[in-house]
Amino acid sequence: MLKIGVMASGGGSNFKAILDRIDCGDFDAKCLFLITNNGNCGAVAHAKNFDVPVFHVSGKTHPERSAYESALLEVIDRFDIDLLVLAGYMKVLPTSFIKRLAGRILNIHPSLLPKYGGKGFYGIHVHEAVVAAGERESGATVHLVGEEIDSGRILAQCRVPVLENDTPETLAARVLEQEHQLYWKTIRDYGEGLKTISR
Ligand code: GAR
Repeated sequence: MLKIGVMASGGGSNFKAILDRIDCGDFDAKCLFLITNNGNCGAVAHAKNFDVPVFHVSGKTHPERSAYESALLEVIDRFDIDLLVLAGYMKVLPTSFIKRLAGRILNIHPSLLPKYGGKGFYGIHVHEAVVAAGERESGATVHLVGEEIDSGRILAQCRVPVLENDTPETLAARVLEQEHQLYWKTIRDYGEGLKTISR
């Protein structure tokens, strides 16, 4: 069984899609915790519904940068996870944290990286830029988290057409639907690869 921890900031539909797949037996995994920087977000409600412990760590709960970083590290040191899964986590992670879990942090991004990635490209802003550029195709990317934003090895992508009368919101909804299919399978496959290597 793959042991994962999740970090999320918003609605948490990707988080819920993963929990649903675990719950119905498609995905042999256990989610040991949710870390959020937003104590009132939808992801917290999903965690509560699935009995996943929640840790709220943010600039509000820990105004000092060093206390904030230690609080994050404390959670991951307390649980023995195979992978850390970012599911709509909108803050940049401290370098100390990325180094501690090198090669074991996955992120999903709502574009065909390397296009529309990097500083300022997150959530709806990605889809705004894609629509404004008149792209005919967009999609989602699952990648390993490196020290640069949206860098790191690409593990999987899915493609979605951009329709003529798409708004950023309609495109976001079409991409999100595909994210829900792509993410849990990629986490499962990458996790299986890790276990084979460490056996
Ligand atoms: C998803 O589209 C995810 O790809 C994106 O935020 C949305 C979260 O939705 N992530 C990023 O933009 C990260 N750079 P959700 O909270 O419903 O899963």
